Amino acid sequence: MTITRVGIVGTGTMGIGVAHTVAQFGFPAVLVKATPGTVDKARAVLNKNLDRAASKGAIKPEDLDAVRGRIELTDTVDALADCDLVIESVIEDIAIKQDLFRKLCEIVAPNAILATNTSTLSVTALMSVCHPRDRIAGLHFFNPVPLMNLVEVIHAFETADTVVTALAEFCRKIGKEPVVVQDTTGFIVNRLLTPYILNAIRLLEQGTGTIGDIDKAMRLGASHPMGPFALADYIGLDVVNAMAQNIYDDVRQQYTSTPHTLTRLVLLGYLGRKTGKGFYDYSQQPAIPNPALKRPVA
Ligand SMILES: NC(=O)c1ccc[n+]([C@@H]2O[C@H](COP(=O)([O-])OP(=O)(O)OC[C@H]3O[C@@H](n4cnc5c(N)ncnc54)[C@H](O)[C@@H]3O)[C@@H](O)[C@H]2O)c1
Repeated sequence: MTITRVGIVGTGTMGIGVAHTVAQFGFPAVLVKATPGTVDKARAVLNKNLDRAASKGAIKPEDLDAVRGRIELTDTVDALADCDLVIESVIEDIAIKQDLFRKLCEIVAPNAILATNTSTLSVTALMSVCHPRDRIAGLHFFNPVPLMNLVEVIHAFETADTVVTALAEFCRKIGKEPVVVQDTTGFIVNRLLTPYILNAIRLLEQGTGTIGDIDKAMRLGASHPMGPFALADYIGLDVVNAMAQNIYDDVRQQYTSTPHTLTRLVLLGYLGRKTGKGFYDYSQQPAIPNPALKRPVA
């Protein structure tokens, strides 16, 4: 199985990061915006990210135009017809992803690999709406994609071993380290990380420590590069919320239930860095803890 042309669906944080990385390592990429509206915003974010990568030396300045030129940005899924790998990275919603997979199966060749970047949904549930099924797998990247080395390659119920091997090899070609994981809610990283973030929110709600002190404690005491609140804001609170709900639906254990504070921030549209406010308020430099979280949670 040879992967030569890669499609990416979804122009959010992850889709743009995957397109950037794939093109940086020499693969032509088709990046599809899956919702109505202009692609201008996605193009602006992509260009800004590529410029930043060049300014930091991750992309040689003389290669920048070629990398940019390898990414075709479109709002038409039909543009994926010639791709031998399509990586879906739209919103974490099973019905929306299943609809998309049904469509993709009709558009791409029967031997093209369809991979999902879901954080916690069942890859097998996506496989269930596809034909043929053995080319469906998960490719779980980490944010920010150009910088994070790991990719979890998800072996779902009927994924062919040859597909898993081809995806692992593809990961190495784009500078990533693959780890093959069986299809379990949250795979390895989020299955461990999500309860950790939820527990940090519970500590905040109980008044054990402030946002700043809990983050500081985990940075200095556990050598984490960032604390749980900075991390949750980085991931996106809607994504953390969806991960928590999906893991809870699977394991039904209280420690995986969603704390009130997270529900409320998401309800109000405070989704972390991408909206400018979450556990921290990023309109201030440096960011300050969200003032609304100073009061006890009822
Ligand atoms: N953020 C992370 O750290 C992270 C890491 C790994 C995987 N993921 C997964 O990647 C996927 C995308 O996450 P993200 O962080 O890029 O989110 P995001 O909010 O930045 O982007 C979501 C994308 O989904 C699109 N979208 C919204 N509604 C849609 C609809 N009805 N139909 C089709 N597309 C729709 C949006 O236009 C946007 O392009 C999710 O499955 C998420 O779980 C996220």
